[in-house]
Amino acid sequence: MTTSSSSQRIGVVGYGHLGQFLVHRILKDGADHGLSLAFVWNRNPDKLKGVVPDDLILDNLSLSATRPCDVIVEVCHPQIVKDFGLHFLSQSHFMVGSPSALSDSDLNQKLRQAAQMHGKTLYVPSGALWGGQDIQRLNDSGDLKALFIRMSKHPSCFRLTTDLLSGCTEDEGRRVLYRGSVAELCPLAPNNINTMAAAAVAAGTLGFTGVQGEIVSDTALSDYHVVEVEVTGPTGFSVNTVRRNPARLGAVTGSATYNSFWNSLLVCKGHGGRVYLC
Ligand SMILES: NC(=O)c1ccc[n+]([C@@H]2O[C@H](COP(=O)([O-])OP(=O)(O)OC[C@H]3O[C@@H](n4cnc5c(N)ncnc54)[C@H](O)[C@@H]3O)[C@@H](O)[C@H]2O)c1
Repeated sequence: MTTSSSSQRIGVVGYGHLGQFLVHRILKDGADHGLSLAFVWNRNPDKLKGVVPDDLILDNLSLSATRPCDVIVEVCHPQIVKDFGLHFLSQSHFMVGSPSALSDSDLNQKLRQAAQMHGKTLYVPSGALWGGQDIQRLNDSGDLKALFIRMSKHPSCFRLTTDLLSGCTEDEGRRVLYRGSVAELCPLAPNNINTMAAAAVAAGTLGFTGVQGEIVSDTALSDYHVVEVEVTGPTGFSVNTVRRNPARLGAVTGSATYNSFWNSLLVCKGHGGRVYLC
């Protein structure tokens, strides 16, 4: 296990919005937090030229083991988690920025096994989830009975794999696009429900099939996304939270989520061979 006092070398996989934010934050503030960059990989390496130091650019992701690092952060696509997650965990702790990938129960199980086998931690960032640690504690004590999450966004903020938004007009107002288990929602909106996926990890006893979710399109939400969480425990215990996450029109990721990812990364010091919400 890496101690909190030693320097952490970070490999960043993906150089989109989150990847750029994390890379530049590590380059700017990393030394103050004991973090340094081990490598950056992007599907299109041209995007890295001139902005990331040449010696930190990794051309071939299969060769990540040639760049020793403590934590590999995926901020790319669930497919990369599927293709490289086991490989990453054989060498480093792994922060999975696209936890919707874990809705694949076979992959979920294999990643958990790999974490255990190699003594590396599979980190799941809380993203826009409020109270994730509390949900996890309730879950671990056996008292979590139900969990429901509703994510409401402007229609331009959804990236859906089906035509649930068809016919949507500029002034339509509110429309429930889908309500069901997080397992059902993940393939429909893999880029929009990572927060629900993080919740399903925190609520391990309910899992992706037990945690319920709803995605709502709302043309009135031009400035922020709304994340509502309803937690149910025993004998009438319940907690309801509403988070307003400022977001530009068309933005998949709310602006507070960037700092949330940075704070999650600071937690990734090694928590043994298990899954850990950070
Ligand atoms: N956990 C959370 O709360 C949370 C929040 C926001 C985004 N995310 C997820 O994090 C990931 C990155 O988000 P972002 O906002 O930076 O996205 P983005 O679209 O800005 O960047 C994604 C990057 O990955 C690349 N990419 C896309 N598909 C790829 C593939 N199949 N193989 C290789 N590269 C691919 C793109 O070219 C781009 O460089 C996404 O999967 C997103 O769903 C998670």
